[in-house]
Amino acid sequence: MTFRSRHLLGIEPLHPVEITTILDLADEYVGLNRASVKHADALTGLTQINMFFENSTRTQASFELAGMRLGADVMNMQMQASSIKKGETLIDTALTLNAMHPDLLVVRHPHSGAVDLLAQKVNCAVLNAGDGRHEHPTQALLDALTIRRSKGRLHRLNIAICGDIAHSRVARSNILLLGKMENRVRLVGPPTLIPSGAADWGVEVYDNMAKGLEGCDVVMMLRLQKERMDGGFIPSEREYYHRYGLDAEKLAHAKEDAIVMHPGPMNRGVEIDGTIADDINRSVIQEQVEMGVAVRMAAMDLLARNLRAEAA
Ligand code: NCD
Repeated sequence: MTFRSRHLLGIEPLHPVEITTILDLADEYVGLNRASVKHADALTGLTQINMFFENSTRTQASFELAGMRLGADVMNMQMQASSIKKGETLIDTALTLNAMHPDLLVVRHPHSGAVDLLAQKVNCAVLNAGDGRHEHPTQALLDALTIRRSKGRLHRLNIAICGDIAHSRVARSNILLLGKMENRVRLVGPPTLIPSGAADWGVEVYDNMAKGLEGCDVVMMLRLQKERMDGGFIPSEREYYHRYGLDAEKLAHAKEDAIVMHPGPMNRGVEIDGTIADDINRSVIQEQVEMGVAVRMAAMDLLARNLRAEAA
């Protein structure tokens, strides 16, 4: 096994071999999760605290389930985003929690970099469950596992990431991971939603869906992140759907066996047509959720092994 990190803060510091190690172990946990008894003991005796300073359905639920299935004592802190506005408050919270001796701390925070800062202040392993528009490493890993299982490989694929790239930590972590694994990544969206530095990321940029999706193996759609927009990034949702919403006509430009992905939550009729999202022959959106639990089990298992090795 090759996974040496103390924390999982982002995809950026990971070596391709570490990514493969997480995915291989996650593959084993997919089997466990499909069995009638879903218990293993990789985290027995350890304490996992989930701290979500931002709303979450899938990510929080799957981290919670992942910890429970591996035997950890799991606690969810009720965090009110509105009461945590200052860096000091975050650090104070971290120090308070640290005094309770957690082993794994899962953190989602609206500010980019907040989770890295927190990791410097505590003694346990920290997992980033999404920080601002910076990174969301477990999402990129579960997307990678979904792609690898569906396409049989995770290299030399043409992957289009479409929509609101500018506000998306999911896009950032996916661009990093897919690039490290030697895929061809295209970003497709209106110029207002493509970050200005994107051309330097080793990706191709398109503002037209038909051209951007041409010959793609994977079409990854993103939600319009309105909570991170301060003003007019799009003319109207109707116009946006017309130009960038994934429907059968636009999808026809991708390869015949191209898969459709979305991290959720979806806005049907804004970035994706509901019929495509539900089409079990094209959409792997439910598989993504299933892989999410397995990937989080694998990530916490590997971090716990490193904790034990360090303590020994
Ligand atoms: C994403 C997130 O929170 O970054 N959702 C998720 O974790 N599944 C994407 C989003 O909010 O649109």
